[in-house]
Formats: sequence, structure tokens, C-alpha cells
Amino acid sequence: MTIINPNELFPTIDFTDGERFVPMHSNYIQLDRPVEQDIYLRAHGQFIIYKRQGQAFNTPDKKQLEVSGNNIVYILAKSDGDIRKFYENNLGNIIENKSISSEEKASVLYKCAVGIARDIFEKPDAKETVGRSQVVVENTIQLLAQSSDAFIQMISLSGHDYYTYTHCVNVLTFTVTLLSEMGFKDPKFLKEAGMGALLHDVGKSKVPIEILNKPGKLTEDEWQIMKQHPEFGAEIVEKGKMPERGVDIIVQHHERMNGKGYPQGLIGGAIPIASQAVAITDAYDAMTTNRCYQKAMSGFRALQIITQEMSGHYNPKLVEAFIRILNHKKDK
Ligand SMILES: [Fe+2]
Repeated sequence: MTIINPNELFPTIDFTDGERFVPMHSNYIQLDRPVEQDIYLRAHGQFIIYKRQGQAFNTPDKKQLEVSGNNIVYILAKSDGDIRKFYENNLGNIIENKSISSEEKASVLYKCAVGIARDIFEKPDAKETVGRSQVVVENTIQLLAQSSDAFIQMISLSGHDYYTYTHCVNVLTFTVTLLSEMGFKDPKFLKEAGMGALLHDVGKSKVPIEILNKPGKLTEDEWQIMKQHPEFGAEIVEKGKMPERGVDIIVQHHERMNGKGYPQGLIGGAIPIASQAVAITDAYDAMTTNRCYQKAMSGFRALQIITQEMSGHYNPKLVEAFIRILNHKKDK
């Protein structure tokens, strides 16, 4: 499986001198629904319009394409953003489609999720990004429920280098899997927790980059600014439609069971379970990726720190469940 670089999500295409026809498998188009972008076919070297934006792509259309042996359609894209828009608009169909492999689904989903996380961090006030994150979270829950391989496939896509955006998607994947392992199956609960997990660190977009990427130890003043990122995050999502559980995660993912966390120093059960879960998945993913101030640790070492050196910080039942899902991963 190819590791995804968040700076190169969908096919790298040079758009400097205009638009490009980008090929897509027709399996990717949402069936029986108006298409959101013009769709083209290629015949005798020419691109011809097949479905205009707003026209439906129906099951008989799909069958006809299959019979003609032509399963590749094209979209006309001006930028990577248009390609991403296509995938995001059709994500539901891609995840539900039985003819697309779980590995391919994981790859498309991961790229959409990383793209959304990147947009949110770059334009943190954009209201629509909370809505976009909801779509990607719902599809992540769907894919993880659909295939037991999907978890490992999603997690394997990020490699060992830390990027804010891949970290967000990993924390989403780990958190939904962990909460499901704990018996939380209600889709609404998982969706709200997933949205908080994906956006848990969105407040870091308001922390100066010199502090975020500082290789050495932070000064006391810098640390005070860094510690405000949970509250900055809550301010950002307030303008969107983030459910309360999601806002709680953003504010509380650095709270610790023994009260030694921040910003409020909440103790034990005062921290909601979904926020307790993100505290673990966030710490684990951060420890197992390369950071400017620390090399990636092995999963084993990270769990040793979580269970021993940081005992008291995390809910032991959640840690046990997390170890179980990581062990399943190893068994694969
Ligand atoms: Fe954080």
C-alpha cells in the first residue's frame, strides 16, 4: 500500500496552462442522482460531454457503459480542488459500492479526509468545513463497520512522518474503532465523536508556526500560548455546526483522568468518555510519528509509556480496549 503524502493527494496533474480531463472509474459516480460536475467520455481521441451537471447518472446508464466496455469517464478539472470535489461529492457511493475494494475505498476516503483537514487548518473560519467533515466522518464510520481490514488499511496510509492533517485522520480512525470496541455503536454518537476527533487540534491553526514547529523545549510563555489551542479550537468550530460532543473533545482532549491535564484540570468521570478516548488516540499517534522534537517510537514503546509512565492519565478500560484493537492490527 502506498503511503499518502498530504501534499500530493489525488493524481499530480500540472494545471499551469489550463484545464485537464481527469479520468475516473464510472464506479465512482453516485448512481441515480444528478451529477455535480459535467462528465465526459472519450471517443476517437475526443472528449464528448456525457452528463451535464444536474443530469442524473442512472443504473441503466451504468449498465450501458459496462456493455460497451467503457468504464472510464472524465471530469474537466481546473485544479486539484476540482478533483477533490468530485471524490467528496461521490464518497457515499464509493464507500457503498461493492465492486470497489476495501483498500481502494480506504485510500479515497483517507485522501478526502486529509484534504478536508487541510482546508480546515488553512481556512479555519470557513463554516462549510464542519459540514464537509461530517460527510467524511460518516463515511469513515461506514467503511470501518463494513470491513475489518479497513482499520489497518486506513492507519497504514500515513507512514511515520507527522503531518497535522494525517494525524487528524489517524485520530479519527483510531477513535471510532476504539469507541466501537468499547461497545458504542450508536451512529450519532460515533459521528459526533468522530467529528471532534478529526478536528481536535483545529485550534493549533491559531498558534504561531514558530511555536508549533519549535524543535527545542518551549519557554513558559510559549507553552501558555500552546496550551490555549483547545479553547481556540472551540471558538473556531462555534461558527460551524459542530455537535456539543465534538466541541467537548476539542476542548478536553488534553484533560487527564488524574486532573493533571488542561485547560480545566477536570478529574475522572467529569471528562466525557469520547474525550477520554481522544486523549489516548491523540497521544499514541503523536508518539508513533516523527516530530520535529522527537523520533517516532514503536507502538510497543508508546503503549508502555501510556500504561506505565503515564498511568493515571488515561482511563485504563479504554487503554485495554485500545491495546486489543492494536493487537488485532498486528494479527493481520
Ligand atoms: Fe491537542
